[in-house]
Amino acid sequence: MSEITVNLPHCKYSVLIESGIIAKAGQQLLASLGLSDMKDIKVAIIADEQVFNLHGDPLITSLKNQSDGVYAFSQVEGEKQKTLERVRSYYDQLLSAGFDRSSCVISFGGGVVGDTAGFVASSYFRGISFIQCPTSLLAMVDASVGGKVGVNLPQGKNLIGAFHQPRLVLIDPLVLDTLPERELKSGLAECIKHAVIQDPELFSWTKKNIKSFLKRDPKFLSELIAKNVEVKARVVEQDEKEQGIRAHLNFGHTFAHAIEATLGFEKIKHGEAVGLGMLAASTLANKRGLCDASVRTDIYEILELAGLPTRADLVSNKELIESMKKDKKARAGKMRLILPTKIGEVGVFEDVPENELIPAWDSIR
Ligand code: GLY
Repeated sequence: MSEITVNLPHCKYSVLIESGIIAKAGQQLLASLGLSDMKDIKVAIIADEQVFNLHGDPLITSLKNQSDGVYAFSQVEGEKQKTLERVRSYYDQLLSAGFDRSSCVISFGGGVVGDTAGFVASSYFRGISFIQCPTSLLAMVDASVGGKVGVNLPQGKNLIGAFHQPRLVLIDPLVLDTLPERELKSGLAECIKHAVIQDPELFSWTKKNIKSFLKRDPKFLSELIAKNVEVKARVVEQDEKEQGIRAHLNFGHTFAHAIEATLGFEKIKHGEAVGLGMLAASTLANKRGLCDASVRTDIYEILELAGLPTRADLVSNKELIESMKKDKKARAGKMRLILPTKIGEVGVFEDVPENELIPAWDSIR
């Protein structure tokens, strides 16, 4: 088992990575709550329906061994499910089942389920314990660590949310066996992002082993997850509320959010959009003289190896730029772009004129 600890001024939690760990969720939860017995502690599993059907039994059995009040709620996957209406329906169900301040919420699914369940946990009775059990590669290496939770509004993605750190994160690489291929690749894009923003050695290691990840070799996948959780954990420890270095994790994301908003979430996966966003950002950085052209080539090559798209059928530059301006990372109407200076280093730039965005967009169409 790998254990990575996230140390924050107000809390500390473990990310445990082990094949088969979901069958030990009850014991791990008990230990993390610091209790000798949790028979009376109510536990709600908020799950992706498909993942729950495939992998839910050992989780339920293990939790029922510890608690007499285990409830399971499931939802279909998809960004459209991340709504206040859904959150409201969970509040109703938790209230009817008698959930109180001592109760816990466990998310069992990808990023959408984690964000929604986490938001429920952050706000129900002003916040109850939350456990992340991510089942997509993307949620394992990114969304499950760091406490960002929230839902979408019709006006935009993640506009309502909170920082609510989990008490425990349980990662079972075995569940990746049934993850659809496109989702696996989408998760790889966030791993590539971590390497580009922080660590040239991780970049080379990721590139060298990409075929093993795609073959779902469990040893390599476990190592990939551990290395990437480590990157995420260290960033969050330095800047929990995104006032500084945590913004680096948004590399490629301002472009990506504009792609997702204009193409629609059904057409493009988040990681695919992030990969394209990293390419557009590196074109921009090179044209500004911030980095060599080789940075873009390196990113392009690793995305190709991972089977991620390097071009897309995009809407007009005007529409894309309008969408970028609405991104919630914009401050006082100014876009904030994370641009690479070399593999392993990025910076934050707020002074990019709109006309410089055009060649960046054109480089991925
Ligand atoms: N996914 C970016 C962050 O957690 O800050």
